[in-house]
Amino acid sequence: MKILVTGGTGYIGSHTVVELQNAGYEVVILDNLNNSCLKVLERVQEITGKKATFYQADIRDREALNRIFEAERPEACIHFAGLKAVGESVSKPWEYYENNISGTLTLVDVMRQHGVKNILFSSSATVYGDPTTVPVTEEAEKRPCTNPYGWTKSMLEQILSDIQNADPEWNVILLRYFNPIGAHPSGLIGEDPSGVARNLMPCLTRVAVGALEYLTVCGNDYPTPDGTGIRDYIHVVDLAKGHVAALKKVSENCGLKIYNLGTGIGYSVMEVIRAFEEASGLKIPYVVKERRPGDIAANFADPTKAREELGWKTEFGLSEMCRDSWNWQKKNPKGYRE
Ligand code: NAD
Ligand code: WQD
Repeated sequence: MKILVTGGTGYIGSHTVVELQNAGYEVVILDNLNNSCLKVLERVQEITGKKATFYQADIRDREALNRIFEAERPEACIHFAGLKAVGESVSKPWEYYENNISGTLTLVDVMRQHGVKNILFSSSATVYGDPTTVPVTEEAEKRPCTNPYGWTKSMLEQILSDIQNADPEWNVILLRYFNPIGAHPSGLIGEDPSGVARNLMPCLTRVAVGALEYLTVCGNDYPTPDGTGIRDYIHVVDLAKGHVAALKKVSENCGLKIYNLGTGIGYSVMEVIRAFEEASGLKIPYVVKERRPGDIAANFADPTKAREELGWKTEFGLSEMCRDSWNWQKKNPKGYRE
């Protein structure tokens, strides 16, 4: 079965390509390399021994999409391509809405014109906003997002649901990722944020390699046991395998489905720092500062539905996530840049 992976050279996309190839799928990657690079392709091939077909193209480019669908005739699409920096989305909302929403509308239109009506969409726990209770199930109400990036995910969920509702030939799976961290255990692929790192794990690994002096802990006055924010960190390899499980569901003509992809366990910032110190044997200097605007106290998943309906559950714990993030960063102190 041939799968088109948009955003396939990105962080989660590249790990998913590895798991798809390991599971025997034929993979075609489409990426405009806005936030990734060609070296990923060599690294993926080094891991799997298989070559993915690659197109440097933009999901907003209808002509390019038409050519790719014509040439490749994929049966399903896993749609990762999108801009994802929360802070940047606040200063560049138009760019985020245009890239993520126009891009997805164009992609979906070209898909249906070619009779391809199977899509897995990268959504996010951000659609729950500040949840009233944790763990969150898929039935929890969607609450206002705190930034334009989050709104693109929330709106695209609605758009894709409406499209499936109007045409039941579509199989649409909305995958709500919690906080992906870690890297492939080989250390060959991993997260390589361009510019200033903003998320917890990339900041931690940059402190560990000496590129940052200390880690900023964004607030220790939350209503949590140690006062720092609690999140559901998930190993990116487990997350990638969730896509393989979801593809099987699509081939059963599942219609519209929504799944949380998380571990079900919440860890605080301080717990992550301690786990990272244990995994790396390093001392991580940190400074507690004010809360980050828009942050919430706690969010973690109830992943029961994915376990029951997809037969998927996470295998890695926080120590493996830290070990593999550190292994990747240590082996590639400047990411994919030499
Ligand atoms: P990433 O930036 O590493 O990967 C996204 C890829 O999409 C990049 O390679 C980029 O070059 C490409 N891209 C962006 N716009 C494009 C366009 N118009 N045409 C073609 N390619 C384009 O991000 P990631 O962390 O791998 O995230 C993948 C998806 O998962 C994104 O949709 C993101 O919003 C979503 N997501 C990520 C997280 C997270 O914490 N990383 C959490 C929830 C959801
Ligand atoms: C985790 C915790 C911070 C940095 C983001 C997006 C979300 C989703 C995943 C895409 C929080 C604290 C962080 C630092 C810190 N992405 N922190 N010091 O904010 O839960 O989720 O990525 O969909 O939409 O918002 O992840 O890693 O930024 O923060 O103390 O330098 O770490 O306050 O409690 P977040 P994060």
